[in-house]
Amino acid sequence: MMNTLAVVGLLWGDEGKGKVVDLISKKADVVVRYQGGTNAGHTVYYKGKPLPLHLIPSGIFNKKSKCVIGNGCVIDLRSLYEEILNLKKEGIDVKGRLFISKRAHVTFPYHIEEDKKTEKIKGLGKLGTTSRGVGPTYTDKYARTGIRIADLLYPEGLEALVENNLKTKKVMDDEINIPSILEEYRTIVSELREYFTDTVFFLNNEIDKGKRVLFEGAQGCLLDIDFGTYPYVTSSNPTVGGICTGTGVPSSKIKRVIGVAKAYSTRVGVGPFPTEFDKGFQEQFRENAHEFGATTGRPRSCGWFDAVGIRYACMVNGVSSIAITKIDCLSGIETIKVCIDYKTKEGKQIQSFPSYSNELSKVVPTYEEFKGWEEDIRGINKIEDLPSEARDYLKGLEEILNVDFVIISTGPDRDATIVKEKIW
Ligand code: GDP
Ligand code: IMO
Ligand code: MG
Repeated sequence: MMNTLAVVGLLWGDEGKGKVVDLISKKADVVVRYQGGTNAGHTVYYKGKPLPLHLIPSGIFNKKSKCVIGNGCVIDLRSLYEEILNLKKEGIDVKGRLFISKRAHVTFPYHIEEDKKTEKIKGLGKLGTTSRGVGPTYTDKYARTGIRIADLLYPEGLEALVENNLKTKKVMDDEINIPSILEEYRTIVSELREYFTDTVFFLNNEIDKGKRVLFEGAQGCLLDIDFGTYPYVTSSNPTVGGICTGTGVPSSKIKRVIGVAKAYSTRVGVGPFPTEFDKGFQEQFRENAHEFGATTGRPRSCGWFDAVGIRYACMVNGVSSIAITKIDCLSGIETIKVCIDYKTKEGKQIQSFPSYSNELSKVVPTYEEFKGWEEDIRGINKIEDLPSEARDYLKGLEEILNVDFVIISTGPDRDATIVKEKIW
């Protein structure tokens, strides 16, 4: 029997994956990040306090779970080390529980500088990246000039590798002090050495032993480099295919996929967003729902639930059930809208999810309306305690999507959750 489960974001990230993973990982033996870097911000409430994680899997608060950072991730060692120290301050020790792939690529400080300088695309303007050096690190990975964790363990050839990496960078005109960067990284490596390992064997062995393994996606389907709203995307594959390439676990071993979606939509950064709210309502909504980025603090754009995007994401990911979050943030809205299809300006129905961002930015959404509710529902953990309008809204969404909601989240805390069926 294989006890594997993936939790993936269905739209543009920040769906509440951190909360869902923390909850489900109570019974997980291993929790795995398979792509992305410190561009992710997954907020978990620990002892009543919000703790955003950027690279360490959200299973870290469950002291029995082991946590893996797979080969598909890119690792900013400075930031990772800081994250480990911060967790220690909160009483969470990663010793013996953290496993980092030696195949993962390393983000250096110059990747971060490069990210800031190169995110402007001619004719398109800014992309609004998180400036964490993620795109440039993946660029180097595919150009075969990148530096991996394994390379850091062999200091003799390292300086030459970094020099070679820098030679490929046309935009880097600053003085870069390679020896000083390497000195700093050597110190961090000596602290973290015990965590570097072959995670491919570790993970496959754990699965073969029947352990419960949970894969935690970062970002979401519409930020996927292949399936998202290119070029307004991230540089990795948050969709399930990314698990195979990002961990070395074959698709035959991924048994179940839970998609995470908010009860409305958000996006941070730049790019098309068909169901975006009008400006005035949006600002008021954002304040109430605390829609500000966990990584950059930027205001997130907010809009209605987009069933077209979610259906597409469910198809690409093979989603079997959905965890729906932040339903509490819809309280007090008189009429709640759901986008059920896209039409062209001329009124022609669009059959698929447009692959061209220019086309997506011009679609006209068709909305179905639901009656809202006044009650504050934050913290409710039984479905029967929700107002009937909230239950009708959720049931309506399930019908529109033809997928069941297995988890309904009504607040950031673990307890503020309705779990409709046993997960493991
Ligand atoms: P992630 O990137 O998908 O892990 O999501 P983020 O952590 O970036 O953003 C989700 C935010 O919503 C976090 O601040 C969570 O603490 C918060 N959150 C998660 N679920 C709920 C919920 O059901 N209700 C409310 N009000 N907040 C939630
Ligand atoms: P989590 O895991 C929301 C967005 C950025 C930008 C684009 C490219 O918390 O859901 P990048 O730095 O990746 O090159 O930026 O992707 N982005 C995210 N938006 N949540 C995230 O992660 C994101 N990670 C990247 O805002 O639009
Ligand atoms: Mg986030």
